[in-house]
Amino acid sequence: MKLAEFNRFDSNYTFLNHGSFGAIPNQVKEKQLEMMELREKNPNKFIQITQYELIEEARRALATFLGSDYEDIIFVENVSKGFSNILRSLTLAPGEALLIYTHTYGAMKDSAQAMVDRSNGSELLNLDLPFPIESPDDVISLFDEMLTNHTNIKIAILDHIAQPGILFPIQELVDVCKSHGVLTVVDGAHAPGHVDLDLEELGADFYIGTLYKWLFGPHGSSFQWVAERYHSIVQPAVTSFGYGSPYPENFRQQGTRDPIPFIVMPTAIDFFESFGGRVRAVSWLTSSPFSGCVLACSECVSG
Ligand SMILES: Cc1ncc(COP(=O)(O)O)c(C=O)c1O
Repeated sequence: MKLAEFNRFDSNYTFLNHGSFGAIPNQVKEKQLEMMELREKNPNKFIQITQYELIEEARRALATFLGSDYEDIIFVENVSKGFSNILRSLTLAPGEALLIYTHTYGAMKDSAQAMVDRSNGSELLNLDLPFPIESPDDVISLFDEMLTNHTNIKIAILDHIAQPGILFPIQELVDVCKSHGVLTVVDGAHAPGHVDLDLEELGADFYIGTLYKWLFGPHGSSFQWVAERYHSIVQPAVTSFGYGSPYPENFRQQGTRDPIPFIVMPTAIDFFESFGGRVRAVSWLTSSPFSGCVLACSECVSG
């Protein structure tokens, strides 16, 4: 890893907790500053014209990196926002259920609870997963059993990588849900940069992930992927220009939100590729003295 790119930490501070909030390399920070200067030279032109050209370029780079069709993926500020967009676009009829499990992240548990609270007569079901988990097959069987016993489950929230450092067999879980006719909303917060992703191939219904963790993007950079078959129903949780237009056009102009974290993503992806990408990052992590504790520690410092 190019440590010189992170040479601005306090001298008495050892940064071990990349998993919670990440940290950007200097070159991404410089690009952000460059974009801020460009915006301030002519705010009207930047906000009305330039930003859309730059976002499109960044979205194309991201779509290629994540194996997504261009039309399926958009930038969002964080995973919470993406989850709200999706869960507020879906409905639960009385008697239907939403499934979460032991390792669902707190913010997504709240998002799930909020959906059930506004859907009269629906229920939130929690699948208890043991820890430590002995094998991926155990998780797949427990999901299958849960969906077999609760035929009212309509939507399942799945994690690709969850705390404390568990890589879930996401393809198999998506397939099990599909075989039961259950919609999948994947929390991929820790996946980009950690595991190879091909979002179209995975075939989930919805996938949301951060870019500010293992892909070295700035805070405020995340993404939302929506399978083409749901483009007609997904609307932003925060209504702004474009209401009623089809996805992804309806997310294009969310007021005057800050687009710079999105625009600098090609620089972050270049940085990631320049040190050898995922293969190099994983080999460094597994051979370093911090082996195994980096993700597991992701919440230690933030409490
Ligand atoms: C599993 C999981 N989901 C989501 C998030 C982050 O959500 P947000 O981007 O809304 O802060 C984290 C952060 O550590 C996480 O571990």
